Amino acid sequence: LKKLVVAIDGPAGAGKSTVAKLAAKALGYIYIDTGAMYRAVAWKALQQKAPVTDALILSVVKDIDVRLSYHDGVTHVFVNGEEATDYIRTPEVSRIVSQVAALGPVREKMVELQRAMAEEGGVLMDGRDIGTHVLPQADVKIFLTASIEERAQRRYREMREKGYDVELAKLQEDIAARDKADSERAISPLVQAADAVLLDTTGLSIEQVVEKILGMCR
Ligand code: C5P
Repeated sequence: LKKLVVAIDGPAGAGKSTVAKLAAKALGYIYIDTGAMYRAVAWKALQQKAPVTDALILSVVKDIDVRLSYHDGVTHVFVNGEEATDYIRTPEVSRIVSQVAALGPVREKMVELQRAMAEEGGVLMDGRDIGTHVLPQADVKIFLTASIEERAQRRYREMREKGYDVELAKLQEDIAARDKADSERAISPLVQAADAVLLDTTGLSIEQVVEKILGMCR
């Protein structure tokens, strides 16, 4: 059986990583969370304890080494050998990650790593530009979305469970701002690839979405 390359793109909070992990497990594929890589760069920039300007981000990315290692349902992220897994999903990182991801040199470096990871096939990669730019030859392309209200609700529950004191309205605002920035940037903006299948998950259960994805791969 041919080992497929599966690309899943979509806006923030659409549930990409949740369903991608489960689908990858069912298929025996590797799961690659590209958002974690941009978050890792953003985290490193925040570590510099200086205003996060584009110049600071560019100097950080020059000698950064980002590695992902996925096991037991968790994407472990290493930045220059240091594990950053627990620090990349904070509201602080979320707030600056779109600025980081808009810069050409950042994207070039991350995309190179992402393509190398997908070389052997048998991968399911999620992000914003996977079907349009990173892996345009992907066998299966899915554009996963849901209403902004439902995406905010899902993220709210997730953050609360992790113990973050977040506010639903603020979270929805942050998500909308991130989507706007990601969709309007000049380089590889968030957009549905012409040959991607649109999957609106509003009102669907996780199991239903995973089943639809597996159906597309069969
Ligand atoms: O997927 P996640 O929400 O963790 O992604 C965080 C941010 O990283 C996105 O809002 C976007 O700015 C950036 N990103 C990107 N291209 C990707 C994946 C993520 O620009 N392929």
